[in-house]
Amino acid sequence: MADLDDIRAWAARSIRILADDAARAEPTPLLPFPLPGDWGVSLLLKDESAHPTRTLKHRAARALFRHAIACGRIVEGTPVVEATGGGAAVAQAYTARLLGLPYTAVMPGEPDGRRAAPVRDLGGDVRFVTPPLAIYDEARRLAADSGGCFLDQFGWAERALDHRGDDLAGELFAQASRPDWVVAGAGTGATAASLGRHVREHGLSTRLAVVDPENSAYFPGWASGAADYATGMPSRIEGIGRPRMEPGFLPSLIDLMIRVPDAGSVAAARAVRAATGLPVGGSTGTCLWGALHLVSRMRDAGARGGVVAIIGDAGDRHLATYHDDGWAARKGLDPAPHAAAIDRFLHGAPWEPPAPRR
Ligand SMILES: Cc1ncc(COP(=O)(O)O)c(C=O)c1O
Repeated sequence: MADLDDIRAWAARSIRILADDAARAEPTPLLPFPLPGDWGVSLLLKDESAHPTRTLKHRAARALFRHAIACGRIVEGTPVVEATGGGAAVAQAYTARLLGLPYTAVMPGEPDGRRAAPVRDLGGDVRFVTPPLAIYDEARRLAADSGGCFLDQFGWAERALDHRGDDLAGELFAQASRPDWVVAGAGTGATAASLGRHVREHGLSTRLAVVDPENSAYFPGWASGAADYATGMPSRIEGIGRPRMEPGFLPSLIDLMIRVPDAGSVAAARAVRAATGLPVGGSTGTCLWGALHLVSRMRDAGARGGVVAIIGDAGDRHLATYHDDGWAARKGLDPAPHAAAIDRFLHGAPWEPPAPRR
């Protein structure tokens, strides 16, 4: 049994390691998305792919470990387990390595070396589980059997991510002091919650829009006020959209939700890549689509001002999915009419996305 002083010393040292890692990092940049100058509206993209693990989950991972250490859920040597198929696993493996902690990601599906490699390269382990929803029970079981910690981003990220200081919200509003709108997606809901809390705490006039892909429970749950809304359907847009309302999704902080067709997310992800060169993921496209909707409202009302949207992640692996026509066709997605709508809009036409499929 470790001595109480040793336990506290390890926790303090570890939190300092995380703080140093954050302090070493430059603020992620705000990249302009080009709009015609005579509109008087700017659109900036907060590039969270600039983190070492190329995802906004980089900050969330740091926040989750910091919080779990401060709560005593993680002590020296605690094996850390998470259930996630996405970029969170890479960011968490990075953070676990920084702290010298064993890390396992439980991912949905059949064993897939391509998905496992970036986690294993950072010293983490990966287990694959079917059916997909079994990942949560399996992660919980693995953690319990090893005396470890189930990190559980859906349960904790909204509490762990700071809305005042050095996490996304504090940094974003220090760079862009008063945008009219800030636009984000919702996976755990933590990012949106931190932005909404920051706006309220600082009395900003900025409004928070949350974009939501097809199949997700968040938009209908928000619109209907049903806290237990569930679709039971997985999202095709990695990182955002959930089959059920999650505890970290806080509707009361959201001014507007925008439902985005998946083909629109794909077309918009390609538009971000064309503008920035970054091979962004689908959720960035969802965010851009919603931002363009808001820009159109401002332009058409003759309002001047600005919108900030989040680049959630980027990586070459997305070239084989959201940026690939074969992949889109296999998923039943036709981005072409959506790409045409973006193009027409950017040349001055009204914002008229294709009618949703019935
Ligand atoms: C643009 C964007 N917003 C939000 C999220 C989800 O963040 P959270 O899990 O904090 O809700 C993602 C995740 O990929 C994202 O890409």
